[in-house]
Amino acid sequence: MKRKILSVLLTAAFVAATIAGCGGSQPAADTAAPAQEAAPAPAAEAPKAEEPAPAAEEAAPAEEAAPAEEAAPAEEAAPAADAGGLINVGFAQVGHESDWRTASTKSAQDVFSEANGYNLSFVDCDNDSAAQLEAVRGFIEQGVDYIIIDPIVSTGWDTVLTECDDAGIPVIVIDRTIDDSDKYVSWVGSDFLTEGKAAGEWLKSYVEKQGIKEVNALIIQGTTGSSAQIGRTDGFKEIADREGWTILDMQTGDFTEEGGQQVMESYCKSYAGKFNVVVCENDNEAFGAMTAMDNAGVTYGPGNDVILISYDACTAGLKEVKAGKITADFECNPLAAPTVEGVIKTLQSGGTPEAKILVPDNWYALKDQIVDFSVDGKAMSMIEVTDEVIEAQY
Ligand code: AHR
Repeated sequence: MKRKILSVLLTAAFVAATIAGCGGSQPAADTAAPAQEAAPAPAAEAPKAEEPAPAAEEAAPAEEAAPAEEAAPAEEAAPAADAGGLINVGFAQVGHESDWRTASTKSAQDVFSEANGYNLSFVDCDNDSAAQLEAVRGFIEQGVDYIIIDPIVSTGWDTVLTECDDAGIPVIVIDRTIDDSDKYVSWVGSDFLTEGKAAGEWLKSYVEKQGIKEVNALIIQGTTGSSAQIGRTDGFKEIADREGWTILDMQTGDFTEEGGQQVMESYCKSYAGKFNVVVCENDNEAFGAMTAMDNAGVTYGPGNDVILISYDACTAGLKEVKAGKITADFECNPLAAPTVEGVIKTLQSGGTPEAKILVPDNWYALKDQIVDFSVDGKAMSMIEVTDEVIEAQY
């Protein structure tokens, strides 16, 4: 069965909602707001694997292009389950580079279990884009009912997604985005640009509170060309440029602890005594950077030489916030799978899922590092890291 895209009515409705949300990441008044627009829910209330989010009710981030034509038409038949009554799902996962990724994989394996009525073909692509394309083609050959892709990089997808479309297999993209094809049903993930802006706006308020006059920042970026790297870098840089901060260097640590350590070792040699902010684009890079700074005799965390900013806010990251090492941590929620299941259930019942579904994120720090700040004119809230908050995190 070939799934054709686009319902004109849906497109019009989605575009109208997006226009209503322009001027920032403000959603249309009649759509659900991302958690950080109001006071963010405490971590214990963030969606967990066992709490499926309703696929059709989340707001799309306004700054991302709206591939409204991805919606599957309601009138087409949903794939039948296999002879054993199971729905066959192929998942081409990025790899296993970080704590975040481990949580994402576990979430998918928990949700798409046989007990829940699924047969999951899982491929760990080990951060290799060619292997990821091959994995998707393997799923087409297998004839799975649905394909889930977390794209390592945001380009290079047009041909293989056309092949999925030709085979009539609905594709659901999670976490990172795809920029060069619109042949997928839904995207479910976090708003990386807002994460980057939030880190920048927090830093602006924090240095003001501390009376710090100059910001000389080093950035350890994520995997080059991934939308997580692009959004976080662009978001933070936008604030840095506006504030006239100096970004001394930006190099990739590939979202790994080893990569973070290597880049930071080189930074410590090249920029000794010249930097007072380090931005790591995920927690694992921050752990590596901490080792490098320890070895170089650089102190970091509240009250020390360097303000250390991280993203992900996984359990291990929040422990380092609590220990006074990471100064602020900006979450990227890895638990997309329950929402993806909602998308699949909507398709199974002949419905039309939302084209873009935002997984809400929260921002974390210790009490004394919590400051007021806004992103695109909207007030943000932060969550104080306590043992209970860490316990509830993934
Ligand atoms: O795409 C999400 C990013 O990828 C997470 O921030 C990082 O930890 C992971 O490897």
